[in-house]
Amino acid sequence: MAVPRRPNQRRSEQRGPVAGRPERRRQGRFPGSLRLPGIRPVALPAREAAGWYRRSVFYEVLTRGFFDANNDGAGDLAGLRAKLDYLEWLGVDCLWLLPYYPSPMRDGGYDISDFFTIHPQLGSLDDLVAFLDEAHRRGIRVIADLVMNHTSEDHPWFVESRSSRDNSRADWYVWNDDDKRWPEARVVFVDVETSNWTFEPKRGQYYWHRFYSHQPDLNYENPEVVETMFGVVRFWLDLGLDGFRLDAVPYLFQADGTTGENLPETHELLRLLRKEVDAVYPDRVLLAEANQWPSDLVDYFGDGDECHMCFHFPLMPRLFMAVRREQRFPLTEILTHTPEIPKDCQWAIFLRNHDELTLEKVSEEERDYMVAEYVKDPRMRRHLGIGRRLAPLLDGNRRLAELLYAMLFSLPGSPVIYYGDELLMGDNVYLGDRDSVRTPMQWSPDRNGGFSRADFAQLYLPPLMDPVYGYEAVNVEAQQRNPSSFLHWIRSILQIRRQFDVFGTGGFDLVSCANPSVFAYVRSPVPPAPPPEGKRKAKARDPKPQDPVSQPPGTGTNPVLCVHNLSRFAQAAELDLVRWAGRTPVELLGRVPFAQVGGGTYGVTLGPYGFFWFELLEELSQGSVVPGIGGAL
Ligand code: GLC
Repeated sequence: MAVPRRPNQRRSEQRGPVAGRPERRRQGRFPGSLRLPGIRPVALPAREAAGWYRRSVFYEVLTRGFFDANNDGAGDLAGLRAKLDYLEWLGVDCLWLLPYYPSPMRDGGYDISDFFTIHPQLGSLDDLVAFLDEAHRRGIRVIADLVMNHTSEDHPWFVESRSSRDNSRADWYVWNDDDKRWPEARVVFVDVETSNWTFEPKRGQYYWHRFYSHQPDLNYENPEVVETMFGVVRFWLDLGLDGFRLDAVPYLFQADGTTGENLPETHELLRLLRKEVDAVYPDRVLLAEANQWPSDLVDYFGDGDECHMCFHFPLMPRLFMAVRREQRFPLTEILTHTPEIPKDCQWAIFLRNHDELTLEKVSEEERDYMVAEYVKDPRMRRHLGIGRRLAPLLDGNRRLAELLYAMLFSLPGSPVIYYGDELLMGDNVYLGDRDSVRTPMQWSPDRNGGFSRADFAQLYLPPLMDPVYGYEAVNVEAQQRNPSSFLHWIRSILQIRRQFDVFGTGGFDLVSCANPSVFAYVRSPVPPAPPPEGKRKAKARDPKPQDPVSQPPGTGTNPVLCVHNLSRFAQAAELDLVRWAGRTPVELLGRVPFAQVGGGTYGVTLGPYGFFWFELLEELSQGSVVPGIGGAL
């Protein structure tokens, strides 16, 4: 059994189960580590697969809200393990766990009070390892949230730091004599906080926080903080995690005269982190949470030497905008303004997550429009956005939900599904903060929605019980039994998506079309990069970058044409497919061939919110269509 390093221990210093004296002295500075036995268990590794995150479908899961195995009212890691059958059946590839660390839970666990262990309500390190083992055995990877920017004010580091100006952690956080410094830095939670500074009477100084005032920011100018947080990364990767979502990563440094976002020092730190991860933990992934404009976002990929993945924040509200306006413009505009990303990097794209539908990266006019369209009651506002789940945002319109998922699953990037949205679960806007969208997963029509057998009053949040979205109406058991359910639909479309690598790794070309309600594009295989100069054969002809790559029919490596009707009414579209002339579009849900693409425009009619995914086949052959449905061949 491997001996994982302790926090803050360099690989070269690794000694085995009995740490040397200096090491033991250092451990004392990290309270969480004192609870660890000398040798910790390590999970089975996931099957190696370079670039796996580019071909994966992610599933974001709130452990506390998924399944309660010990009936204490909160979901736990044992519960998550018990539901792996379901997740495997659904067909997701990587789970993203929201923070599972000890926390006073004043910000859903993003207020961490110990980075080196698990919140006792959720289980233990052993439970995590058992869960990772089982997930990896099934080919499912697991990443977890890592909050590098701040801690809870209850964290012993901060308790010490705030106690005086001269303790050993006095400069682990960002302190100042007044609250006037860095006035250009915006307040993120504008509806709750009025300043990024809060006064600490014991020091007679102010501390810096980009989020809640109970979440002081760590001071990354201090090398001890950097080394300690890198130790946190090593700790969890040693245990077997497949990577991290790096929470709130743009705010790690501050500088005079700047907004304190996306600073060069932050990128430098991420490069260092990536170097460390690449050197010791190949095949793991760093996913940046940076709610920024595309031009700033791409910097988080660096030259392929920072994060492997990055959430495409500006795309998300525009998906909702486009379907409400029934026009593709918000989408084509943002995609046109999205720069190319380095090879081996990938966007993470999503419809909803555990936070509000953020409206930070839209114009003021667009924000007003989104609020007018999607906020029926002022209670639905959260921070700068809207605290609702997917289904209620769409007024429960299933066809519209299918359309949005069809775009999510075919646009460039790896899709992230938020737990419960595969059922079209609802929300509870009467709950505080973003708890509106964090209610228990609905497994069955039984007590507490099959989530827990604890008394109702003991549950971490009440399950939904309303007649439209309550657990009696919306639950896994019923939808698994009904082949026409939304759950079955999503599972089937994921199965189709899985057969086509182009959705994860292919190129993206918009298809022009006069009808503004129709949004069409082709995802095509990227030709392999030409060999480096010296290695080219004298007469070899390199493929032109624009050349469509021809593949045998039905192998899943052909270009895929995706056509979406953003309107609630049926639409006709004339698509410019000249580049694909001679190919036959085969519709992927039924493998039904359509008319061959000719020299002029290609006509398609779509029902309300309808969509088609077509494989563009060079030649039709037996097996590329469904006999009997696909016509005589
Ligand atoms: C991230 C999390 C959010 C949290 C914030 C502050 O944005 O997604 O839930 O409130 O960080 O920790």
